[in-house]
Amino acid sequence: MNILLLGSGGREHAIAASIAKSAKCSKLFIAPGNAGTSACGTNVDLKVDDFEGIGKFVLEHDVKMVVVGPEAPLVAGIADYFANDDRLQNIAMIGPSAQGAQLEGSKDFAKMFMQRMGIPTAEYKTFTKETLKDGLKFLSTLQPPYVLKADGLAAGKGVLILDKLKDAKDSLKEMLEGAKFGDASSRVVIEQYLSGVELSVFVLTDGKHYKILPSAKDYKRIGEGDTGLNTGGMGSVSPVVFADKAFMHKVEHRIVQPTVRGLHKEGIDYKGFIFLGLMAVRGEDGTLDPYVIEYNVRMGDPETESVFPRIKSDVVDLFVSTWNGTLNNVQLDIDERSAACVMLTAEGYPESYRKGDTISGLDDISKSIVFHAGTKLSPSGNIVTNGGRVLCVTTLSDNLPSALLHSLQAAESIKWKGRYYRHDIGQDLLKMSIER
Ligand code: AMP
Ligand code: GLY
Repeated sequence: MNILLLGSGGREHAIAASIAKSAKCSKLFIAPGNAGTSACGTNVDLKVDDFEGIGKFVLEHDVKMVVVGPEAPLVAGIADYFANDDRLQNIAMIGPSAQGAQLEGSKDFAKMFMQRMGIPTAEYKTFTKETLKDGLKFLSTLQPPYVLKADGLAAGKGVLILDKLKDAKDSLKEMLEGAKFGDASSRVVIEQYLSGVELSVFVLTDGKHYKILPSAKDYKRIGEGDTGLNTGGMGSVSPVVFADKAFMHKVEHRIVQPTVRGLHKEGIDYKGFIFLGLMAVRGEDGTLDPYVIEYNVRMGDPETESVFPRIKSDVVDLFVSTWNGTLNNVQLDIDERSAACVMLTAEGYPESYRKGDTISGLDDISKSIVFHAGTKLSPSGNIVTNGGRVLCVTTLSDNLPSALLHSLQAAESIKWKGRYYRHDIGQDLLKMSIER
C-alpha cells in the first residue's frame, strides 16, 4: 500500500526508514521530510497543518495510510478531519483524534484524566487569571522547587521549575496576566515537584489493546552534565537500565492499562502512539515507582531514533493492526541489543543558529545509522544544515558502552562549521549499572 508520513525531523527519518523496510509498503511519501527521508521515499512539499492539501494528495496518490509524526496536526484535529470526510474516512490514520490528543494539548485535561483513572502523578491544582490570588496562596503552601506548567502547547518551553517562592509567584503572574506563553498559559497547572530519574516509555494502542515499545532516556540540556538551556533533545539511549522487569510491570499495571482502559471507557478515539514521560521515584520500600510527568500523543524525538531501530517486527503490520483494532493478534519482536543516539547540532543552538553549512563525512559512516533532523539538499546537490538539530547518529550494539563509543566516533567524523554534540550521552546510566 502507499503510505504518507507527516513530519520533517529525525523522528520522521527513523520512522520512514522502518516503514521503507516493509514489504507491505509500495510507495512511501514524506511531507515535508528532509534530505534524509528522501532516501526512504518521496518528499512532498506539503505543510503538516494543511489538512485540505493532505486530503487531496492522499486521494490523488492512492494513499491508504497516514502516519502522523508531530503533535500539532493531531491536536488540531487531522484524524477528525479524515474521519468526517466520506472519501477519507477509510484511510488508516495512525494518530489519535483531537480529543485524544488533549492528553498532550492540555496539561489540565491530562491531569484530570489521570486523577479519574487513579494513575500516579504529581499532586496539582489549576489556576486562571480569575483565580490568580488563590494560585499565589497555593504556592505559599508548597515546598520548593515550584513546578509551573502552561496548560497548552508551548513548543516544549511551557514548564518552569523555580527554587524561590518570589520567582514562582512572579512567573505565575507573568503566565496568567502577562500571557508569557500566549494562549497556552491562560491556564496554569501548579504541581508537586517529583524527585527521581526520568525516562520515556512508548505505547502503541488501537484504542483497546496495546503494545509496549522499548523504553528510552533522552538528554534535554545543551551542555554536558545536563547543564545549560533546554533543547529538543541531544541524544537518547534504549533500553534504560533501571527500567527492569519489576519496574515495567508497575508501568504496565499502574499506568498503561488504566490509560488505555480510561480512553476506551470515555469513548475517546485513540489509534496511535502514547508517549509516557515518567519519573522513577524511590519509594518507601526502596524500589522505584513510576509517576507520569506528562503524556505526549506521538513518538519522542530523539527517542524514536534509538527505539525504532530496535523494533524487529514489520511496523506496517503493527500500524495496520492499530487501525483495525487487532493489535492483540500481532507479535512485537524487539532487538535485545542497546541503541545509542547522539545528536549533532548547529553552532548557537538552541538559541539563534546558522543554516546552510555544507556537511562532510557522511559517506564514511559504516557501523552507525545517520538520521537527518534538520538538513536539506542545496541546489548544487550538497547536503547542508537546515535546522538547530541537524543529524543524529545511532548505533546498535551488544552493550551500551560499545553503542555509545561507535556513535561518538561517527559523530566526530561528521563535520561542518561549528557542529556540536554532547560526549556524555548515556554516561549516567552506565554509572547506575555499575552501582546496581
Ligand atoms: P514537561 O514538558 O511536562 O515534560 O516538563 C519538562 C520537564 O520538566 C520534564 O522533562 C521534567 O524534567 C521537569 N518536570 C516536569 N514536571 C515535573 C515535576 N512534577 N517534578 C519534577 N520535574 C518535573
Ligand atoms: N524527547 C522529548 C520529546 O520528544 O518531547
